[in-house]
Amino acid sequence: KQVLVLAGGLSPERDVSLQSGRYVIDALQRAGVDAVLRDTDATLLPELADHPPSVAIPLLHGAAGEDGTVREVLQMARVPYVGARPSACRAAFDKPTAKDVFAAAGIRTPAFVTLPKQAFHDYGVAALTRRVIEHLGLPLVVKPRAGGSALGVTAVESADQLAAALVTAAGYHPDVLIEERVDGSELAIAVAEIDGEPVALPPVEIVTPGGSYDYTARYTSGLTDFRCPAPLDPGLLAEAGRTAVLAHRSLGLRHLSRTDAIATREGDLYVLETNVAPGMTATSTYPIALQAAGHHIAAFFKELALQVLR
Ligand code: DAL
Ligand code: MG
Repeated sequence: KQVLVLAGGLSPERDVSLQSGRYVIDALQRAGVDAVLRDTDATLLPELADHPPSVAIPLLHGAAGEDGTVREVLQMARVPYVGARPSACRAAFDKPTAKDVFAAAGIRTPAFVTLPKQAFHDYGVAALTRRVIEHLGLPLVVKPRAGGSALGVTAVESADQLAAALVTAAGYHPDVLIEERVDGSELAIAVAEIDGEPVALPPVEIVTPGGSYDYTARYTSGLTDFRCPAPLDPGLLAEAGRTAVLAHRSLGLRHLSRTDAIATREGDLYVLETNVAPGMTATSTYPIALQAAGHHIAAFFKELALQVLR
């Protein structure tokens, strides 16, 4: 039986997921693993019943791929899979829920409010933006409540930019998350359960000379500098690793995750989110961290697949 790599799907990150899928399947096939890539839609369930794979590797980003829905389908079809279980995915993918979990675990996360799109109508955009700024100040970051690859995310410097940012985010989710913006070094901290225990891989510092780490900066080769090892204080990097492992454990994740954080100049660490299906594209930070730690990506996924089959 084959290893089934699930990619694509119907979220706005469909294309990124196909890139992740191709990157991982190429590595697996080169390593001699019998693996197939499958685009993911409603035909998945009957196909799993007709041709059950030995194990699935979900590399779906965004929406149903990352909120646990597709993993529930895998469970229904009794297909073992690599990665977190549905309920843990649900908590991690929903940013306000994840941030509440972080706060309860003593992990710093930027102050935030969540607003349903309906509130724009009920209160009026002008009154709403005034209240938000009274509460959180400026600058802000406005995001869809759940999503990835910075789609629908806007940095807001001044009050007159907030309304447009709210409308942009609401194009991706009916609820909008507004966060205080914390300035500092952007870190991506991969966590891997290679010997059954979650371990942090070397943090990757993300430097975007062109501006923000937006969709284009993420997926255009050469636009972003990925520094690994990150040229930061070793104590701070160790703390980042411990925090990412704590975030992984607090959310009840399994096998792999990537925590995105900001390290301030004062050395405080703020966690933005933890991704259950971190990007595996040629410009993604997880493969960079794996390589820095001396792990081959094919061997890594083979090891996780063996863990679920044991
Ligand atoms: N959502 C993208 C794929 C990431 O977190 O890497
Ligand atoms: Mg993300």
